[in-house]
Amino acid sequence: MWMSLHWGRYRAARLSVLLIAIIFSVAVVSYFATSLVRSSEVNHTVDLLSENHQTALAKHARNASLGFGEIVYISMPGRTDRQDAMNMLAWFSGLTMKLVPGVDGTVVPPKAIPDSAPKDIPASVLGCFRAHANAWQYLLQTNMDTLLIFEDDLDWGPNIKDTMERLSLQMQNSKIRLEPPSDYERKNAPYGLDWDVLYVGSYKHGGNPDLKDFVQTWDDPDVPGLKGVSGMGKGGILYALRLAGLSDPEIEAKRMLTPSYTTEKNTAYAITRRGAARLLFLLSYIGDLKAGDVDQDMTRLFIEGRLKGYTLTPPAFTQFKVGGTKDSDNIKLGKTVNGKGNLKGKSLYIKGSARRLMVQRLKVNNWNDYKTITNPETTS
Ligand SMILES: *[C@@H]1O[C@H](CO)[C@@H](O)[C@H](O)[C@H]1NC(C)=O
Ligand SMILES: *[C@@H]1O[C@H](CO)[C@@H](O)[C@H](O)[C@H]1NC(C)=O
Repeated sequence: MWMSLHWGRYRAARLSVLLIAIIFSVAVVSYFATSLVRSSEVNHTVDLLSENHQTALAKHARNASLGFGEIVYISMPGRTDRQDAMNMLAWFSGLTMKLVPGVDGTVVPPKAIPDSAPKDIPASVLGCFRAHANAWQYLLQTNMDTLLIFEDDLDWGPNIKDTMERLSLQMQNSKIRLEPPSDYERKNAPYGLDWDVLYVGSYKHGGNPDLKDFVQTWDDPDVPGLKGVSGMGKGGILYALRLAGLSDPEIEAKRMLTPSYTTEKNTAYAITRRGAARLLFLLSYIGDLKAGDVDQDMTRLFIEGRLKGYTLTPPAFTQFKVGGTKDSDNIKLGKTVNGKGNLKGKSLYIKGSARRLMVQRLKVNNWNDYKTITNPETTS
């Protein structure tokens, strides 16, 4: 009796201690669990600012569209020779790109020609504008943030993906943008979205002379150096680098980003959705295509401050020239480089050449390779 009473009390006491312990540990565990969840939620913002996140986003610049939504290239339907080359080059560099067909200006009806266009605008110039405008339209028909637009005679450095990854890191930490990036940009946009146009392949540059401090430079071992950027005189690449205050040793080692001012040639440029809409607005909707040459009109719009862009100098992409009339769709076929196709072509302002390396990769001496296997002694 005494024993059972004693044990009963003892058990009750033990049970309540146990109960308190359980309640206490549940409380402790849930406190830590919720604070864990809370900190991982809250620190999403911190994550977006972290070096790890930025490095990971910059890796998108190495993907098959170089961190843009897609790559398209503009080519006259008849220039299958150039289309062949662009597809080979895409294969070589691990890129995918879609064709935006060039436009024959004679099929643009007079009512569709922008109001300010010169009365005597050549069909080829009008067609060129229209093809670029069709690429701008194309971006707006998708849900992508950006589009990289190429012409069809390109070359680029063999390490193009390194160059673009570095550019992404710089643009994520831009010192020359007007407002800090939104969370959406930090999460999704390797190059930010605070621009209409991002020139990565223009061959004549000049920054705004009134804004010489708005320059960002960084080390890039893949720049072509002083010799590689010479030529073109005023307005050339070297001129732009010096105008921005770079010394000769810096020109050997650095790439630079500036707000776009004077540019030339739409060899390679990216657009954002707002950029696409703004370009269509300016050059088609209100018809302000005064020069007719779309690249010259874009330069004018930058200078007037009605279009917002950044220019990469030296450019990452450049024209590949074979040195004959095949270099232009606007000149009748005359002198060509007979027999060797593109082999004698050249490109300026890049270090190395994806085209040249591609040619090396494609050369094979198949039966010779078999011989070295069947008679291994011939190799030594
Ligand atoms: C997480 O990030 C937010 C926003 O930057 C900050 O206010 C908060 O203190 C951070 N929390 C922790 C637990 O680090
Ligand atoms: C490359 O990265 C960009 C940015 O994240 C993305 O929008 C695009 O879809 C990616 N392209 C490919 C082919 O994965």
